[in-house]
Amino acid sequence: MSSPILLVEHDGPVTIATLNRPDKLNALDFALLAELGALVAELGARPTASRPRVLIVTGAGDKAFVAGADIQAMSTQSPEQARAFSEHGQRVGRALEEASFPSIAAVNGFALGGGCELALSCDFIVASDRARFGQPEVGLGLLPGFGGTQRLVRRVGIGLARELVYTGAVVDAARAKAIGLANEVVPHADLLPKAKELARAIAAKAPLAVAAAKRLMLRGPEIALDAALELETIAFGAAFATKDAREGMDAFLAKRPPKFAGE
Ligand code: COA
Repeated sequence: MSSPILLVEHDGPVTIATLNRPDKLNALDFALLAELGALVAELGARPTASRPRVLIVTGAGDKAFVAGADIQAMSTQSPEQARAFSEHGQRVGRALEEASFPSIAAVNGFALGGGCELALSCDFIVASDRARFGQPEVGLGLLPGFGGTQRLVRRVGIGLARELVYTGAVVDAARAKAIGLANEVVPHADLLPKAKELARAIAAKAPLAVAAAKRLMLRGPEIALDAALELETIAFGAAFATKDAREGMDAFLAKRPPKFAGE
């Protein structure tokens, strides 16, 4: 699935997708979004045994994760084309969010505009100490179009999201962690090792249970608490029909490490 603009590497149960347009600070154009969307779809369609347990998304080069949607490409778009571009970006973000496997954004530099929105579509963010986050679109006469007005509110709360979107301010990694945008900040050289360490910790757990928990945490906040709690109860019961639940509990009782097959 690797292409010149999207490098894909499989490291055991972890897949690493590297957005690779470093001369344009990995700006997202239609083609790069399409490649990423196709990758998420392809991985998701695999049988459980060969599906990655975690996807890490990162950017090529030392400077940028993604410096935004491609302004050059957008500069000639009609309103109709811009709307299609927004829908396209939103579809890819939603696909990441809806995927059965978690994704980690390993933010290695600028995550601006569409880059911040892409990172927000991943389950959580690990940031290099060089990372910079922001939604600067209003400075271009535009606004976030790949889900930023919605996901930033949900991630950091409405007051801070308003401030960041209205001012277009760029925040450093420490501030991103302080406001809950990034889970963790690590020295630049440690970024991928740390992201992989987290990914492997997730990959060692029961994938069907992780997928069910992911789905509940995505859906739950959108619906009434009683309904969400009922969904949790149904999912909890369903987990007992999996071989992994039997294996996990048997392994605990036998004082041995579990081996999950994703069944
Ligand atoms: N779209 C298209 N090209 C972009 C881009 C974007 N979002 N961000 C950077 N680039 C390109 C630059 O045009 C430049 O290309 P060139 O060498 O062909 O001129 C190259 O990437 C390097 O960027 P440059 O601006 O020279 O790097 P810098 O270190 O001086 O500044 C940034 C880095 C991130 C501060 C700056 O590139 C920037 O502000 N980018 C736009 C951020 C933005 O507004 N994103 C939201 C878009 S909706």
